[in-house]
Amino acid sequence: MGNIIRFGVAMPKDLLNKFDSLTLKKNYPNRSQALRDLARCALVEEEWKLENKETVGTITIVYNHHFKEISDVLTDLQHHYCREIISCLHVHLDRENCLEVLVLKGRSRKIKDIADRLIATKGIKHGKLIRTTTGKEL
Ligand code: NI
Repeated sequence: MGNIIRFGVAMPKDLLNKFDSLTLKKNYPNRSQALRDLARCALVEEEWKLENKETVGTITIVYNHHFKEISDVLTDLQHHYCREIISCLHVHLDRENCLEVLVLKGRSRKIKDIADRLIATKGIKHGKLIRTTTGKEL
């Protein structure tokens, strides 16, 4: 962490009370830590708006591997985007259901496109892109 600067923040009392309750509920040690976290979340969101920014995301998908051809389709897609998909975790949840977590690094626009393609694949029960960061600028 860089130099720490203290500053005052003016806020309506009701809002501050709610924020303090949330801070406690989420187990932050103090308001400052909660505020830093909010600021970093906002900065990561901004990073993702720059479509050519190199960033990192994870795609989580759940599917039934007995569904017609889905394993082949997913494998083909993952080979096609092997430059961006840098790691993959596969968990056999039960006799039918599989969970995969793919880690992607690349331009935000490309990661979003890959996520859209994977999640829209026929037979996917649930899919979600988590947008995070390379961490270089936070
Ligand atoms: Ni499996």
